[in-house]
Amino acid sequence: MAAISAITDILARIPYPGFPKTIVEFGFVTRAESSDAGALITLSIPSAAGEVSEQLRLEVTQRLEAAGIPLAELTIDTPPLPRQTSSNGFNALPAIQSFVMVSSGKGGVGKSTTSVNLALALAQRGIRVGLLDVDVYGPNIPRMMGIDGVEPVFVGNTIKPIPAHGIKVMSMGSLIARDASLLWKGAMVTQAIDQMLVDIKWGEIDVLLFDMPPGTGDAQITLAQSLPITAGVCVTTPQKVALDDTVRALDMFGQLNIPIAGIVENMSGFICPETGTEYPIFGKGTAHHLADAYETRVLAEIPIEPTVREGGDAGMPIVTLAPDDPVTRRYLQAADTLWEQIQAINAEGGVDNSAVQPTMF
Ligand SMILES: Nc1ncnc2c1ncn2[C@@H]1O[C@H](COP(=O)(O)OP(=O)(O)O)[C@@H](O)[C@H]1O
Ligand SMILES: [Mg+2]
Repeated sequence: MAAISAITDILARIPYPGFPKTIVEFGFVTRAESSDAGALITLSIPSAAGEVSEQLRLEVTQRLEAAGIPLAELTIDTPPLPRQTSSNGFNALPAIQSFVMVSSGKGGVGKSTTSVNLALALAQRGIRVGLLDVDVYGPNIPRMMGIDGVEPVFVGNTIKPIPAHGIKVMSMGSLIARDASLLWKGAMVTQAIDQMLVDIKWGEIDVLLFDMPPGTGDAQITLAQSLPITAGVCVTTPQKVALDDTVRALDMFGQLNIPIAGIVENMSGFICPETGTEYPIFGKGTAHHLADAYETRVLAEIPIEPTVREGGDAGMPIVTLAPDDPVTRRYLQAADTLWEQIQAINAEGGVDNSAVQPTMF
């Protein structure tokens, strides 16, 4: 009978496909035992893509064989596959399992900041993430991800997303002339999104996040018609005057049949670094009332924190820049809750956006 340590040593050297970390470092090995018949191994991975399971199965089998350890049982648990019949049975990107729309009632509340940090926090858990900047009016994802000015690579008629900090990124704004987009009318946005969905070759990823333009408009409707959007995240600030806009954003999710994974209350108080005293500059906690009213949850309260802005300006979001920062921990917690929500929604069969009409707003 092989020693358990011999089995775990082997598993500890197997990288998780697409990441620099191993399956042990990610905590994906949920059982490693030894029996008379050989090794008994269970992996629980966050990807529903067959390709990932197959690669891991091959790695584990071959490495055990090379070490002369028989394999008695290898189970690979994967998350539930979403139903692909939503959006009138249409998923323009079938290689992608889940889609998350990050929206807000108005601009400047921290939608892009939330999108990049949630995306990076998800990736830290071994989830393969794509991030599409749909905000043609204010595309700031490239700067925040440190890829401003990086030209995307074209392969024939298709575009390859740009790898940055372990995720795949593409910005619609970076593909169109900067001043031109400011004057874009709804129909042009719709057309550009349709085109973009066909042209960008993401490959197989687990979740694609959309950093939406502010408000409730054509971009949101177009995406909901083309893709079975798994969940929506609403970003808001705590001022009472922001509530009306946020209510509109939440109502929009309802009208598009998009389950609300939760609300992020951004710029939620300021914690004085010298004294630790918290000052509610824009207020604090209003998102909880909204979450109750919409039967959802607050994913995180993110304080006003200079490192958050500096990270964005420097192209190194706080989750990557300051892994031990309390704000980073809040983003990680929010990402975990978001991921739980995505699993729960997919387990119930996913979303049906088929009733969405272009004339709703
Ligand atoms: N919690 C925060 N603390 C400090 N600055 C923040 C915070 N959230 C966002 N910012 C800064 O506020 C500005 C607007 O945020 P951004 O994410 O671009 O908003 P939006 O995408 O909603 O327009 C950016 O300069 C960003 O760095
Ligand atoms: Mg933005």
